[in-house]
Amino acid sequence: MTSFSLFQGDICTLPVDAIVNAANTTLLGGGGVDGAIHRAAGPELLNYCRTLNGCDTGDAKISLGYLLPAQYVIHTVGPIWRGGAEGEAALLASCYKRSLEIACQYELKTLAFPAISCGVYGYPNDAATKLAIAALLDGLESSQNTLEKIILVAFSDQMAGHWQAALASHHLSWTHY
Ligand code: AR6
Repeated sequence: MTSFSLFQGDICTLPVDAIVNAANTTLLGGGGVDGAIHRAAGPELLNYCRTLNGCDTGDAKISLGYLLPAQYVIHTVGPIWRGGAEGEAALLASCYKRSLEIACQYELKTLAFPAISCGVYGYPNDAATKLAIAALLDGLESSQNTLEKIILVAFSDQMAGHWQAALASHHLSWTHY
């Protein structure tokens, strides 16, 4: 049974099996959580990401964590919000599911997610967090699930509130990480 935790702060500080990066299709770094992860992981991460040939929106690819306390980084590319009629919801759900699939392929036990697409990419945060929990619950059921703990990461008080509301809307119990 996989448990859920909520952590407020910098995802780069977490000593987990993998952290998820909200990247862009180039996988060559950017702002937001992507920039923070590349800074904390060091230049070897970018060198490795250059060999991955980018990543489609809704898909995910894995790397080592290099100088991060996390062993791996799972890079996923969320959709840019364009009003909601451009398949954004299915693409965002796919980010969470593909990240879970890869984590389970690597037999990981602890995995931390930022709120994918909730910053620069402009996805409405309440809808994105509710969809994220639904996609995670769905993915945990259908995959060869190895995960013991999923940590939802909020960088702000406001995002922590969104994660809490989303967990409550799915009647999930959770702990502070
Ligand atoms: N730890 C945890 N969460 C963070 C951190 C951090 N260190 N920094 C930001 N967040 P964003 P996106 C939160 O913009 O919307 C990049 O340039 C942030 O407050 O990082 O998917 C990429 O290269 C927000 O709640 O990702 C892409 O071009 C959430 O992480 C683009 O941004 C996601 O915000 C991706 O945009």
